[in-house]
Amino acid sequence: MTEACTEPLGGWKRTHSCGALRSEHIGQPVTLMGWAFRRRDHGGLIFLDLRDREGLTQCVLNPAEASEAHARAESVRGEFVLAVRGMVRARPAGTENPRLPTGAVEVQVTELRILNDCRPLPFQLEGDAEVDETLRLKYRYLDMRRPSVLRAFQIRDQACRAVRDYLHGQGFLEVETPFLTRSTPEGARDFLVPSRLQAGSFYALPQSPQLFKQLLMVGGFERYFQIVRCFRDEDLRRDRQPEFTQIDIETSFLDRDDFLPIVEGMVAEVWRRVKGVELTLPFPRLGYEEAMARYGSDKPDLRFAMELRDVSALFGGGEFQAFAQAVGGGGAVKALRVPGAAGMSRKELDDLAAEARQLGAKGLVWIKITAEGLQSPVAKFLHAVQERLVGAVEASAGDLVLLVGDAPAVAASVLGRLRVDLARRFAQIPPSKDVFAWVIDFPLVEWNGDEKRWDAVHHPFTAPRDEDLPLLESDPGRVRAKAYDLVLNGQEAAGGSIRIHQQAVQERLFALIGISKEQARARFGFLLDALEFGAPPMGGIAFGLDRLVASLAAQESIREVIAFPKTQKGTCPLTDAPAPVDAPQLRELGIRVVEAPGAP
Ligand code: AMO
Repeated sequence: MTEACTEPLGGWKRTHSCGALRSEHIGQPVTLMGWAFRRRDHGGLIFLDLRDREGLTQCVLNPAEASEAHARAESVRGEFVLAVRGMVRARPAGTENPRLPTGAVEVQVTELRILNDCRPLPFQLEGDAEVDETLRLKYRYLDMRRPSVLRAFQIRDQACRAVRDYLHGQGFLEVETPFLTRSTPEGARDFLVPSRLQAGSFYALPQSPQLFKQLLMVGGFERYFQIVRCFRDEDLRRDRQPEFTQIDIETSFLDRDDFLPIVEGMVAEVWRRVKGVELTLPFPRLGYEEAMARYGSDKPDLRFAMELRDVSALFGGGEFQAFAQAVGGGGAVKALRVPGAAGMSRKELDDLAAEARQLGAKGLVWIKITAEGLQSPVAKFLHAVQERLVGAVEASAGDLVLLVGDAPAVAASVLGRLRVDLARRFAQIPPSKDVFAWVIDFPLVEWNGDEKRWDAVHHPFTAPRDEDLPLLESDPGRVRAKAYDLVLNGQEAAGGSIRIHQQAVQERLFALIGISKEQARARFGFLLDALEFGAPPMGGIAFGLDRLVASLAAQESIREVIAFPKTQKGTCPLTDAPAPVDAPQLRELGIRVVEAPGAP
């Protein structure tokens, strides 16, 4: 590459952005700065499209009018950083570009400064060509120069601003809480940070500010929020990052039904300001049991119907042994109608059955509804129930009906997963529609068959419903929690609860989930102490900000709305984190790396 002669700013000041110039500026002298997006040579004239955050302006260099600038422009390559001075003029008739906001004008350049040059790019910035994601993340600062990437971050910024404005308007106080702290159980592994001053001891990065926000309520702050980073060492997916951001909220003296409308108001404000959409409030509420029964999921996608139906009554004691046995053994037969899917091939249906088995079902029965009748590998067992079955699922010709007979939770959750996959495949999901719903009345605890103990469904500071409190020891599985999740288009956008604010109840819950008094003291003694000093009734919620923004920006992956995200393997292609550290640094921390787990 030829070395370009670069220059300082030399006191030049921008007069306009590259997106600002219109016909009304014709005849004005301007100074623009930005990156050389494109350069075209046309019989002596050089055209430079200068780009900055705000847009693109066509700059023209004529050797007859500005020979020095023209000569410099010859050395300009893609993404050189330039400053130009010149005069705005109308583009010659017929060369206007109506697709560009600045497309009516161009700048006739008189002076050009090359502020910096640029190596050949690892990928093209033009258009939205597919570029390998790891490469994009390695050069994220180049990726960011693409307008679509910038747009996602503008949306993120607008959303944060709307959140702050709204919550401040509601009397919330923004408070920061520590990153170097003790473990907060949210169901993932902790990231640990070794202490040099207390060698052999470790801080845990917070999985959420849960305990601190409860302490802020004990401290009398009453309404707190924070847009805060959380850290969880868990398996990563499109909607999970090891560090992600929460809009974290806590309030005092409010019950669930006073609190949820405040949260709905915040979401409505964000959608109003970012999308210009007026959401209908209040959001519908679904009990956990109902969500599982109708949609097979505690985060149901309500943009489309396709509800599950319980058809156990048709199969109990019937001819079809597999289902009769399932029903006889306390299980259920659930049905899912997939509109317009009767054309699926044998291979596609076999794959679907394999998927169902992988999700935990013993099998999957499919039935094609055709004008000539039912088609199914088990058709001969269905004669007796066929009419009632078709009626129960309201199927008509062209539909596919799927049946699973199993433990009720298995049958529901397997069909719940297929419901979403097939809705996507058969275009049942309306684009650009956002549907929110609350899922409430979760069970407080669930039985962990592997470890033979009860586990908290949310974190262990979630309050049981008052009327269920007496069941805490006698029938824990029936205790419902004062917990709520906000679901957006089948994704958990937020989760929260009313908290336990009485130490005695907190100790009963710890005992139930197998945390002894001593362990509770050792891990959460500071919280138990605080609960004895006049803790007010309190409750709150946390939104996954990245998920919310990804949805607002119509992005599939939250990585698209995080400036410097990690890959699925938890690595950062840009900085190469995580990385080994020097022996002296480890020695100072009193740490010796024995061997990486799984190393040969
Ligand atoms: P919870 O664990 O449900 O609740 O987290 C709240 C929300 O954070 C988002 N989220 C994530 N986003 C990206 N990557 C992750 N790894 C990740 N994990 C969670 C989800 C989720 O709904 N302290 C409680 C809140 C409370 O009770 O007030 C908590 O953290 O959108």
